[in-house]
Amino acid sequence: MCGIMGYIGAKEASQILIDGLEKLEYRGYDSAGVAILNEGQIQVRKFKGRLSVLKENIEQHPVEGNIGIGHTRWATHGEPSDINSHPHKSSDNKISVVHNGIIENYIEVKEELQSLGYNFISDTDTEVISHLLDYYYNGDILDAVKKVINKIEGAYALGIVHADNPDMLIAVKKDSPLIVGIGEGENFIASDIPAVLKHTRKVYILESGEMAIVKKDSISLMKTDGTPVTKEVFNVTWDIEAAEKGGYEHFMLKEIYEQPKAIKDTLSPRINSNGEIKLDSLNISDDYVKNTKRIYIIACGTAYHAGLIGKDMLERYARIPTIVDVASEFRYGEPFIDSDTLVIVVSQSGETADTLAALRLAKEKGARVLAITNVVGSSIARESDDVLYTWAGPEIAVASTKAYTTQILALTLLALDIAIKNKSITHEDMDFIIKNLSHLSEKIEEILLNTENIKSIAERIHSSQSIFYIGRGIDYDVAREGSLKLKEISYIHSESIAAGELKHGTLALIEEGTPVIALVTQDRLYDKMLSNIKEVKARGAYVIAVAKKENSEIEKSADKVIYIPDVIDEITPALSIVPLQLLSYYVAYKRGCDIDKPKNLAKSVTVE
Ligand code: M6R
Repeated sequence: MCGIMGYIGAKEASQILIDGLEKLEYRGYDSAGVAILNEGQIQVRKFKGRLSVLKENIEQHPVEGNIGIGHTRWATHGEPSDINSHPHKSSDNKISVVHNGIIENYIEVKEELQSLGYNFISDTDTEVISHLLDYYYNGDILDAVKKVINKIEGAYALGIVHADNPDMLIAVKKDSPLIVGIGEGENFIASDIPAVLKHTRKVYILESGEMAIVKKDSISLMKTDGTPVTKEVFNVTWDIEAAEKGGYEHFMLKEIYEQPKAIKDTLSPRINSNGEIKLDSLNISDDYVKNTKRIYIIACGTAYHAGLIGKDMLERYARIPTIVDVASEFRYGEPFIDSDTLVIVVSQSGETADTLAALRLAKEKGARVLAITNVVGSSIARESDDVLYTWAGPEIAVASTKAYTTQILALTLLALDIAIKNKSITHEDMDFIIKNLSHLSEKIEEILLNTENIKSIAERIHSSQSIFYIGRGIDYDVAREGSLKLKEISYIHSESIAAGELKHGTLALIEEGTPVIALVTQDRLYDKMLSNIKEVKARGAYVIAVAKKENSEIEKSADKVIYIPDVIDEITPALSIVPLQLLSYYVAYKRGCDIDKPKNLAKSVTVE
């Protein structure tokens, strides 16, 4: 998704902007540009393609100036092209704007401006902003910004430079992330913290409806109506290296290997010295739980798959009926939501547009909303009644890995906490599960130590046309995530099927040599899965089973087996997904794919 970086200070802005934008590359983009203000002139350079195209252009034809804004664009309105890239400018070249988000009423505004003689050169919604600023500018740029904000509808993070005000950058936020980086003799704006970390650890996180006037030596924060705002400085405690590859060839691999730590970091602060679960950040009383009639879990993509496991945990331990829905369906459906409903939204980034809209809808209908997210201060965290953070650290690769395993863990802890409040679990059972959870991290490490088998399977299946994943119960939930992981980074067609459903249609697609990955980790479903394996083998499938070590007789039925350590059935998902993540990674690697930035996808989907 789009990235914004802005700089004002004494250094050459172009280099700092490009450096910052590089740190946001993981968000996905199709074009990049900068606008540099120098001696009353704005120079814009922008190109379709990777940042390197822009970088090369600037190296060959330097653009001087100490104030500027930069942008990486992920096309929504208008195809990826030089013209549609940001920054956009006013016709007299005095105002330049970068924008993340969508201006919903841009067609109406555009027609109005055209009737006033304004000439549009791009297909973007953003261009209305630069022309509107020009239209409203009457010697006071802040007044013009306020009028523009009153006029436009939608979501936006804006960075603005104006040739008549060469001592300031203007930042405006509504529903799209934007921060201000606090330097010494220099300041920054950016759509995400990694862009400024090389220069400062001190940032202001802007809220919706706020703006900042950023000068070299000062930052003024205000609401968009001009009312001053005071805000605490947010000190970033994680390292820039945490956002870089740390010796791994890809972020995805690094993040897979970070799972033992992410699990430990998410679990340890939630278990007190008596070995009990303590979710301090939540304000959910026993009475509230007793009155809760149903739970909705709402999320997208991988977070939705974690939600499926969450449903199993909530129904199993807390005995409360739970519905899982993808946010884009939920928000246009007719959900059974009222004040007796607890809505749990799950989102790594905390900025996913559909999930945020679902959260708002749930609140409107009177539900209490609890967020499970990885990003402190994200929109979803701020707008929810309660937040349970996954402490996975920044996830950069588009393909989500450590976020998924920590989401499963957070949902399990939440289910156990609710179960205790609901008195639907005994303390003995609870202690037993917690003891098992406390070994999860080392069990994942065990899987990560032995990847040769997974690499050789990747070698065998990497040129397949189609790969199927089957499972029952929570194994089916993991199969869905395994299949998504494979298709998104390797571009191999893949489907996941509830194993018992095979004979109702999908079996027709199994032919000689078709790889079928069968998850067989649930003891009570073991025999059923063996029958399903036989079913596909009889049609020529090449079966790779994922099973617990104790079930080694599976070797008689499958062509290959990937073992996970022996654990209780309900905590297998956080283990069985790990070899599937690695398998997807090695298959994509063999196929020469752009693993961290798969085509057509973005890390954070902040538009509908
Ligand atoms: O940031 P979120 O967890 O809300 O993102 C939701 C999905 O876009 C995300 O999980 C996506 O499916 C993954 N990148 C897939 O690996």
